[in-house]
Amino acid sequence: MACENLVFWVAIVLLGLVHNQSFVVGEPQVPCLFIFGDSLSDSGNNNNLLTSAKANYQPYGIDFPNGPTGRFTNGRTGVDIIAELLGFNNFIPPFATVAGPDILKGVNYASGGSGIRDETGQHLGAHISFDLQLINHKIVISGIANAKRLRKSYIAQEQLNKCLYYVGIGSNDYINNYFLPEFYPTSRLFNPQQYAVVLIEQYNLQLRVLYQLGARKFALVGLGLIGCTPNALFSHKINGTSCVQEMNTAVVIFNDKLISLIDRLNQELSDAKFIYVNTTGLLSGNPASAGFKVFSVGCCPVGKNGQCNPSQAPCQNRNEYLFWDSFHPTEAVNQITAARSYKASSPFDTYPMDISHLVQQ
Ligand SMILES: *[C@@H]1O[C@H](CO)[C@@H](O)[C@H](O)[C@H]1NC(C)=O
Ligand SMILES: *[C@@H]1O[C@H](CO)[C@@H](O)[C@H](O)[C@H]1NC(C)=O
Repeated sequence: MACENLVFWVAIVLLGLVHNQSFVVGEPQVPCLFIFGDSLSDSGNNNNLLTSAKANYQPYGIDFPNGPTGRFTNGRTGVDIIAELLGFNNFIPPFATVAGPDILKGVNYASGGSGIRDETGQHLGAHISFDLQLINHKIVISGIANAKRLRKSYIAQEQLNKCLYYVGIGSNDYINNYFLPEFYPTSRLFNPQQYAVVLIEQYNLQLRVLYQLGARKFALVGLGLIGCTPNALFSHKINGTSCVQEMNTAVVIFNDKLISLIDRLNQELSDAKFIYVNTTGLLSGNPASAGFKVFSVGCCPVGKNGQCNPSQAPCQNRNEYLFWDSFHPTEAVNQITAARSYKASSPFDTYPMDISHLVQQ
């Protein structure tokens, strides 16, 4: 009898805990979300930089509540949707405009054109490399910023440990570095195997900086199949359904090494948790069965840089296109990717757990 009672009360207490932790309406599942990355996550950090890598003009944002914001897609980015799934009521503000107490819910540092390496993307103009994004994060959380808009907004270490850190970086180290030999020497210095080693070693150091700044829950996004973008197909004069194999092979090498790095970090930094989000898997399989019909060209008419031409009308049937411009997925794709990153629907989607489980750790 006593034993049964005990089980009963334990169950009540556990239910209470679960209830308090994750089902309280209006409270996000983590107190804050910090976002690092490139144009796949940028929400306006490049708007006032001298660069061609910006998207604060029509038709970008045509399906976004506030119109063009600097997001490189027609609607919400993947991490916008993940923030919603985590229970945030508002989008995480970009570093460029965040002010005062808003930083307490997190900041988006992502910058179009940026990479793990500082020089990546520099032919496009100014950008905020991952190293600089880490410096910006340090400024934000230390509350010592000179900028008036950031002053007096200090976040306690204890809170920083509970936040989610979403990092999606590395595509540009290939697209806007390794595979542009006319601007960058890396493909003459390294073969793809060596280049991935160099990138992962730098990424490792950068992630440890983030750890030292209090990060404990990391979602690291693997690289997509960059050899299948309309830009890759066009520049290699490929028609039809195939992709640029050389580019895909290079990112698969990177992704494999990223998974090994995740194993290593989980072992060495045992009070932190790192997960891998497999974006190549999320749409491989059969995009046609998800209703997509157009794979090899983007929805908007593009200029020679692969971005939408200002104010030219995009396609109407945006949910049937994988790509919005020559590089970036449509919101329809982002919805699938985000949903499966948050709650995996195949064992390949995330490793070793999905975001919904990571935030409960
Ligand atoms: C692609 O195919 C179309 C029609 O099938 C053809 O007109 C075009 O020249 C081809 N482009 C290339 C780059 O091969
Ligand atoms: C990603 O997903 C694809 C398809 O589901 C799978 O073939 C691939 O092995 C996965 N990659 C990793 C690194 O898990």
